[in-house]
Amino acid sequence: MAERKPVIITAEQLAEQRRYIEEIRSLPQRPRSYFVVTYGCQMNAHDSETIAGMLQEMGMAEAPDREHADFVIFNTCCVRDNAERRALGNVTWLKEVRKQNPNLIIAVCGCMIQQPGMAEKILKQYKFIDLAFGTTNLYKLPELLCRKLNEDRAVVVVEDKDTIAENLPMKRLRKDFAYITIMYGCDNFCSYCIVPYVRGRERSREMDAILAEARQLKESGVKEIMLLGQNVNSYGKGLEGDVTFAGLLRKLEEIGIPRIRFMTSHPKDLSDELIEVMRTSKCILPQFHLPVQAGNDDILQQMNRHYSREKYLNRVRALREAVPGIGLTTDIIVGFPGETEEQFQDTMSLVKEVGYDSAFTFIYSPRTGTKAAAMLDQIPDDVATDRIQRLIALQDQCQKEAMSRFVGMEEEVLVEGLSRRSKTAVSGKGRHGVSITLPGSEKDIGEIVRVRVTEIKNNTLMAERIEERK
Ligand code: 5AD
Ligand code: SF4
Repeated sequence: MAERKPVIITAEQLAEQRRYIEEIRSLPQRPRSYFVVTYGCQMNAHDSETIAGMLQEMGMAEAPDREHADFVIFNTCCVRDNAERRALGNVTWLKEVRKQNPNLIIAVCGCMIQQPGMAEKILKQYKFIDLAFGTTNLYKLPELLCRKLNEDRAVVVVEDKDTIAENLPMKRLRKDFAYITIMYGCDNFCSYCIVPYVRGRERSREMDAILAEARQLKESGVKEIMLLGQNVNSYGKGLEGDVTFAGLLRKLEEIGIPRIRFMTSHPKDLSDELIEVMRTSKCILPQFHLPVQAGNDDILQQMNRHYSREKYLNRVRALREAVPGIGLTTDIIVGFPGETEEQFQDTMSLVKEVGYDSAFTFIYSPRTGTKAAAMLDQIPDDVATDRIQRLIALQDQCQKEAMSRFVGMEEEVLVEGLSRRSKTAVSGKGRHGVSITLPGSEKDIGEIVRVRVTEIKNNTLMAERIEERK
């Protein structure tokens, strides 16, 4: 594949966007409130933080819900068909809301827009959409909105550029926890996946920019960061010098943020060097999301995953040896074209063998333009549904067994919020990535609390607090 260089958005280009922000602030007809609806993965959740940050700089305040906002923006996902349908359904429903608020501006952005032909479809079939732009044009939101307000016609922009834009405004959702994007796009072209087509070529942020962001977060009191990328293990490709993900982690560790997580990892790029960093580090949490997708070698090959079942299991063994008790999670697809019952049973046996703390399970969804969508022998819906149900039942059972290792164990929980079930309990994630509920109140939110896990109740780990010694 020809190498494409990332397009770094310059300081001048960002200054231009700042001027648009100022112009919007001075417009009498500008929207005063916004609401961002987010679909999909953590990447999208993080992009929505940038969107919110920019809108606040334009002088808008967050509305309590989408019915009471002047500007509603849908940040979409297209990894599976149902995500796309849900987004389009909700956008269409908002058309009714516009009858009450004729000034309502509706924008759609994110992966869905970046699909081939989607921009034209929006212009033709969804005429009520005011603004549409892809993930790589996020930095241009001020300019696009300004154009919409001044010209009062639909603005649709999808420029196929592999952009990296630094220092955009950001309204982080939490004070104690923050996402940091370390790389964009993906070059893996798994045969079922649309991501490389909609998020562009793989490109890594400069290490200095990442470290500067982390230092700033540490100063503002952030206790946990999650590094984001479609394939964080191949971080550094294309950068000058011998830059690796393991090397980045070592540098981040020195900054002193107590907890560091990352996702997503590709098994083929999971290096011994990274496992060694995990073994020796105190602040890189003992948790690993390692999508397997399938347990059968032929299917893995058809998926273009570049590893065998044995190689995957090998990596799992190495991780468990280096970090005993490590929390393991995965993604699995059932019903990939041509998958036989026997091949599906290989996935079932792998799930049993590994014993994941949790698994995200998906029915294969054909995505136009991908290699798998053109494969013969697509699996009927009822067969795929039956398989996923059996897989979920098995994973539930394995999960219970996996969870039991925590009972009696000490953990540290970063408290996220009040428990949904009780007013005198709070919950958050332990170091292993599993949710834990403990006695507490609002004042614990954002704090790291030491606990001992006492029991499993309704699939949740329950814990008691360990009093700090004076
Ligand atoms: N159909 C079903 N699941 C998919 N995923 C990606 N593409 C598809 C598809 N076409 C799943 C993979 C991936 C996760 C984010 O979404 O399991 O790891
Ligand atoms: Fe999609 Fe594969 Fe890239 Fe993950 S690694 S984003 S599944 S192409």
